[in-house]
Amino acid sequence: MAVDSFSARAGKISANIGAHYVDNARKLPWRAPPGGDLPDPYHVWLSEIMLQQTTVGAVKSYFELFTRRWPTVESLARAKEADVLAAWAGLGYYARARNLHKCAVHVTERLGGNFPRNESELLKLPGVGAYTAAAIAAIAFGERAVVVDANIERLVARLFAIGTPLPGGKAEIRAAMDAITPSRGAGDFAQACMDMGATICTSKNPKCDICPVQNQCAAYASGAMESYPVKQPKKAKPVRRARFFWIERQDRILLATRPPSGMLGGMRALPDDGWAAGNDGHARPPFPGAWQVHDNIVQHSFTHFSLEVDLAVYQDRKIVTDMTSDLWWPLADIADAGLPTLYTKVVEWKLKEEI
Ligand code: ADE
Repeated sequence: MAVDSFSARAGKISANIGAHYVDNARKLPWRAPPGGDLPDPYHVWLSEIMLQQTTVGAVKSYFELFTRRWPTVESLARAKEADVLAAWAGLGYYARARNLHKCAVHVTERLGGNFPRNESELLKLPGVGAYTAAAIAAIAFGERAVVVDANIERLVARLFAIGTPLPGGKAEIRAAMDAITPSRGAGDFAQACMDMGATICTSKNPKCDICPVQNQCAAYASGAMESYPVKQPKKAKPVRRARFFWIERQDRILLATRPPSGMLGGMRALPDDGWAAGNDGHARPPFPGAWQVHDNIVQHSFTHFSLEVDLAVYQDRKIVTDMTSDLWWPLADIADAGLPTLYTKVVEWKLKEEI
């Protein structure tokens, strides 16, 4: 690594990453080409909400589906929340979808359909946190904002060999990103850094031989690239148990709508035994009968716990139940029910087992 002053090194990093992006930017449906006109703020906001905790590969088809169905923030605001939640099914972290709709209504009804352009106003919108506010301000409006996501965190921790374990090291990483963010083109620069983190400066086996900032990278100079960013060891996740109920009558199954707030709030679901992030379910069926129980058929990982799911099956041509908020859903159309991945796994298991 060349011996430069900090600001000379920061300037080289900024220039090299910017120049590399001109020829290597990933073409993504919500992006404008480097150096060109700014992209549609609705597209930037929608993509950034979808990309929270979700990969680019998983988001692309959802982004295209949403923008075809709801081409403007006003049309999304007019949609029914239940339709937005069903279209979101499979992307996970469903509070994002409820906030997405709330935010569309807010921007349409209170802001005349215009997203605010600066970080502090963006931060007031439902579902928009510090990262997303900075990303929208920089990418959609060309404001100089310091954008740090997980890919950028890794790139910057390596460039400056920041050894303070995360999450404590976040302030140092942000300060270093601030030092290399240019005053013009902060949005292109942030996306250039995201692309480098996703394609070159990967967690395992980084491709340092094709990296445009190899000469400025402190981790590369030390040979210890993969030891950055340093992370606090993770605590083991608790394991919770739940029982779902498969209630079938004449080629239809009974679905439920989950309570509006809390885990998977407002989503369609199989009826269950009241499991929650902090508790196992009670395993009691909603009505007595000849239930067939299949233990531990599916495991699903949430951020703070894992869930092991049993399935209790009741099939009868003449079921009568007094469960009120539920829906008898045709099994042939189950793919259109907008079920979250957890339930889709269970449905797929049941249909494959043919029990
Ligand atoms: N991750 C979050 N925002 C992104 C963007 N605009 N481009 C690529 N990856 C991203």
